[in-house]
Amino acid sequence: MVDFTDRVAVVTGAGGGLGRAHALLLAELGAAVVVNDLGGSVDGTGGGSSAADAVVAEIEAAGGAAVAEYSSVSNPDGGGAIVQKAIEEFGRIDVVINNAGILRDKSFAKMTAEEVESVLDVHLRGAFYVTRAAFGHMREQAYGRVVVTSSGSGLFGNFGQANYGAGKAGLIGLMNVLAIEGAKYNISVNAVAPIATTRMTEGLLDAVADLRDAFNPAQVSPAVAYLASEECALTGEIWSVGGGTVSRVFIGLAPGYAKKPAEGPITIDDVVANVDQIRSTDGYTIPATSTDEFAKIVPQLTS
Ligand code: NAI
Repeated sequence: MVDFTDRVAVVTGAGGGLGRAHALLLAELGAAVVVNDLGGSVDGTGGGSSAADAVVAEIEAAGGAAVAEYSSVSNPDGGGAIVQKAIEEFGRIDVVINNAGILRDKSFAKMTAEEVESVLDVHLRGAFYVTRAAFGHMREQAYGRVVVTSSGSGLFGNFGQANYGAGKAGLIGLMNVLAIEGAKYNISVNAVAPIATTRMTEGLLDAVADLRDAFNPAQVSPAVAYLASEECALTGEIWSVGGGTVSRVFIGLAPGYAKKPAEGPITIDDVVANVDQIRSTDGYTIPATSTDEFAKIVPQLTS
């Protein structure tokens, strides 16, 4: 039985959509929750306290503990204030669910610098600032659980989302490094790539109208809560979650083509002649670190 009694969780962007569902489930499982949301629109403009307040009221009405916080994740002060709220109200910070997000979709040729910056600020830098503020506390207590919210748009690509896809894929790089740095402090860092009907995906899932209800945000939260729990010892994993499905996404290394030093330097002709072998995914492994990647490559040149 997964239990968050005495645990304190921050959920960013928890005033609606997926973040609200995560906050409700964590509170139901016993966590005290900081419900962060600046209350803006999908493109990140505007703001207000009512979205976060409403979720706190829902949690309290169900007998849970929660406090609202209205900072933007997109700058260091905001990240610090969100974590400070957890410390002040509940005395500690155990879980960070980096969920806040905005969209500024545009085909690449038309995308402005501002549309790139604002999206990276919320998704990538936002997760960086909030997690960094929590990381020191987690190291001291030798316990922490961090979840970042990636997206199929970053992992696999999606038209019109160069800014968003870059931010969402960047979160995987952040996760990979934090998973390694956090390991000796019992801090795990994992990623979800959700699929859910929220205001952000309005109309996108209409093609599967029969399954609209199945893709409600609450269908993502159990996997998120598991990754954020003490029971979960996994780190550095990416899970695609939605509609009742939970699947691992991974970055693997295939054996490829290897030309041993004794055979001379690799040439462009070698590459051309071996494209099929280079691209084959047969016999892939999943390196735990870049050092592990190197350790897997070297024997191909020596054995
Ligand atoms: P949503 O728009 O309902 O929720 C996002 C929340 O983040 C909003 O409540 C918004 O006010 C808040 N927010 C935005 N900027 C913020 C900031 N600077 N500081 C604090 N809060 C901020 O959308 P949804 O779908 O619930 O998205 C949640 C996360 O899941 C996002 O990171 C999104 O990119 C990601 N995602 C969602 C997918 C889906 O199918 N709904 C697919 C893939 C990823």
